[in-house]
Order: sequence, then structure tokens, then C-alpha cells
Amino acid sequence: MRCVLVTGAAGFIGSHTALVLLNDGYKLFLLDNFSNSSPKALHHVADLSILTKEELGERVSIINGDVRDSALLQNIFSRAKSNGEEITSVIHFAGLKAVGESFEKAIDYWDNNVAGTIKLLQVMENNACRNIVFSSSATVYGSSKEKALIETDPISPINPYGLTKATIEKMLANIAGCQSTRIAKQYSPRGWKIACLRYFNPAGAHPSGKIGENPKNIPNNLFPLINQVAIGTKEFLTVFGKDWPTPDGTGIRDFVHVMDVAEGHKAALDILISSKPQLLIINLGSGKGTSVLDLIKKFQFSTGIDIPFKFSSRRQGDSAISLANPSKALEYLNWKPKRKIEDICRDSWNWQYKNPMGYK
Ligand code: NAD
Ligand code: UFG
Repeated sequence: MRCVLVTGAAGFIGSHTALVLLNDGYKLFLLDNFSNSSPKALHHVADLSILTKEELGERVSIINGDVRDSALLQNIFSRAKSNGEEITSVIHFAGLKAVGESFEKAIDYWDNNVAGTIKLLQVMENNACRNIVFSSSATVYGSSKEKALIETDPISPINPYGLTKATIEKMLANIAGCQSTRIAKQYSPRGWKIACLRYFNPAGAHPSGKIGENPKNIPNNLFPLINQVAIGTKEFLTVFGKDWPTPDGTGIRDFVHVMDVAEGHKAALDILISSKPQLLIINLGSGKGTSVLDLIKKFQFSTGIDIPFKFSSRRQGDSAISLANPSKALEYLNWKPKRKIEDICRDSWNWQYKNPMGYK
């Protein structure tokens, strides 16, 4: 059986990916310290899966622990081995992800994201497990580019969070014996199989409304905030800037449904497992831009709920446009998003409406 360790599995993207992998026949070791998530997410994943209770018992292990705990990681690999199983791949979601917070708590970001990845790689190497799918981010490209971003574009992150992601990519490339993180596909002479997936703006939720985005702290991303306005816990949405160099003056982003992102991980994992050692650096985005004002309109249309908003000045660190050129994902992973922005609006609202307090 294909055994995979998923770090950060209870989080937004991890939980949706766990569901896709379970339904596809993988055996999963789901690790999370629940610093930004709830164990309930994983119980809901189990409920949503097509597996029977008995199958779930055989195919899912939930581990409450930290990716920086080498002894715990080794124990997960050893226990699997003693049961006649071998963890041959890792999907590494665990990490801290709030751009603003990364300025205040830069050391925590380097520790969780970079030191955590080093510990994980050491244990993987010691156990001859050299397949990893890593959660990277469009933030590695840095500030505004007026065109769709392609994997060969320069890497120039402008915040500590983005710096940690760019550093991890470089470290992975170096470990694999590859030259650069600016080439979409390279042969790895050291036997590593690595996919760095640069997500653009993942949003939405599983259509059941049983799993979704559940930020523990005050959210600062657009979708959780629109949903708060829709449910009435926030009076209006603040639109950051109306003077961006875009057709309607508001920022343009590439929103991609979290179920599409989850399926992108399965595609990447399947490709890594079945191909020669290589480093893949791939954008996960739709290639379609939606402005903040467009999004408000589409959200209102999809949900029938009015979203009052007020303009304020630009948010520090924002860029006008962030848009993926998604052609490499199609070429190398045979992946492209199946869901539209309207699906993202409908599913994120469905999750919010059914779970106004998240998993609480
Ligand atoms: P999330 O916060 O919902 O999930 C991350 C999970 O990792 C959480 O469950 C958290 O409890 C866990 N975690 C954090 N530090 C840990 C540690 N040291 N040990 C064990 N578990 C730990 O975030 P997400 O949106 O699901 O993002 C997943 C990954 O994708 C992150 O690495 C993030 O940086 C990256 N990413 C996210 C976005 C986005 O917009 N959501 C965009 C680009 C990249
Ligand atoms: N926005 C508003 N009002 C709000 C919140 C956001 O107008 O209350 C606007 C922003 O100015 C921006 C757009 O909505 O134009 C999207 O903002 P988000 O905060 O939702 O997302 P970002 O594109 O700023 O950043 C996200 C993640 C980062 C990740 C990046 C690229 O938060 O972690 O996408 O993947 F690095």
C-alpha cells in the first residue's frame, strides 16, 4: 500500500488533500500540532471519505505532534516499519503562513518553516524516504508583476514568510543536487523526488460544508472576511485601495478552489512516485484573475447575500496583480482547475453558513 506522511494535515489545504488521497487508496499518517487547526477537521475528513470504519482504522493514523520533533518523526517511520509498512512519501504542509505576523514573529517563522523542514528532511533521509511534495507559495515571486507569473520568473520575496518559502525551495533544490529553483523540471542526481507547488490564492471549501478554512486568529485574507460580512459578524468589507493600475482600480488575484489544489497534490504525488528522481517547481493557479470588486459581485450573485464595503487606502505590502501562468501544471502534472470562481464563492459560503464558529 502507498503510505504517505502528511504534515499539517488538519489545516485548510491539508484536510482537503487528505480526503482526496484517502479516497484514492493511500494509507495516511496525519501529523499536526493543531496550532492553527482542530482535530475535528480530521474526524470530518474520515466521515466524508468513502471508507468503512474498519478501513479507516487500517488506513488512517492521526498523530498530535510537532514536525520539529525528530524523535516523534522517527517513531512514526519506525512504527510503520514494524507493522510491515513503509512511508515512501511526505506531503509537507506544516508551517506558519500569515504574512503580517511573519514580520512580528520572524524567528518563529524561520523555526517552524525552515528548521521544521530540515528536521523532516533529516528523518526522511535516515529512512531512505526521498519523495516530498512541498507547500510553496506565489509569495516567493515578490512584489507586483503586471503579467502572469511563470516558474522561471525571478524569486524576490518581500516578507519573512515568503523568504522562508524561497529558502526551503532553494534548500530542496540543493539537496536534490539541482542548480536552480527557476527551472520547472530538473533531473535529481541524488535520488530525490521533489515537487514544490507554488499556490496562488486557495479558497472555497469541500462542497459538503464539513471541512473548510478555519483561521484561529483574526483572519486577514479576503475570503474569510467576505464570509464574516455575509454571516453578519462584520459590518462591512474594507477594500484596500481603489487606485491600483487595474481596470477597476482594485487588486487582482488568482483564486483557486481548495479541492482543485488538493487534487493538484495527488497529481504531483502520483507523478513523483511513478517517475525518475526530479525536482518539479510548479504554479498551482487558474490563470484567471478576479479583482476585489469582481469578487464582491460574484459572491453576492452566487449566495444572494449583500456585501457592504468601504474603500480604504492600500494595504502595506500588497501588489496590484498576482496571477499564475498555469501551463506548466498542465504539462507536467496534467492538472488544471475544474472549479470556477462561482464554485469557490458558493462552497466557501456553504462552509461558513453551516459552521459559523468553525470547528468549535
Ligand atoms: P493552515 O494553517 O490551515 O495549515 C497548516 C497546518 O500546519 C495547521 O493545521 C497547523 O496547525 C499545522 N502546523 C503548523 N506548524 C506546525 C508544526 N511545527 N508541526 C506540526 N504542525 C504544524 O494553512 P493552509 O492554508 O492549509 O496552508 C498549508 C501550507 O500551504 C502552509 O505551509 C502555507 O504556508 C502554504 N500556503 C498556503 C496558502 C494559502 O493561501 N492558504 C498560500 C500559499 C501557500
Ligand atoms: N483585500 C481587501 N480587503 C481585505 C482583505 C484583502 O481588499 O479585507 C484584498 C487585498 O488587498 C488583495 C486581495 O484582497 O488585493 C487578496 O488579499 P488576501 O489577503 O486574501 O491574499 P494575498 O494575495 O494578499 O495573499 C495570499 C496569502 C499569502 C500568499 C499569497 C500568494 O495570504 O500567504 O496569497 O499565494 F503568499
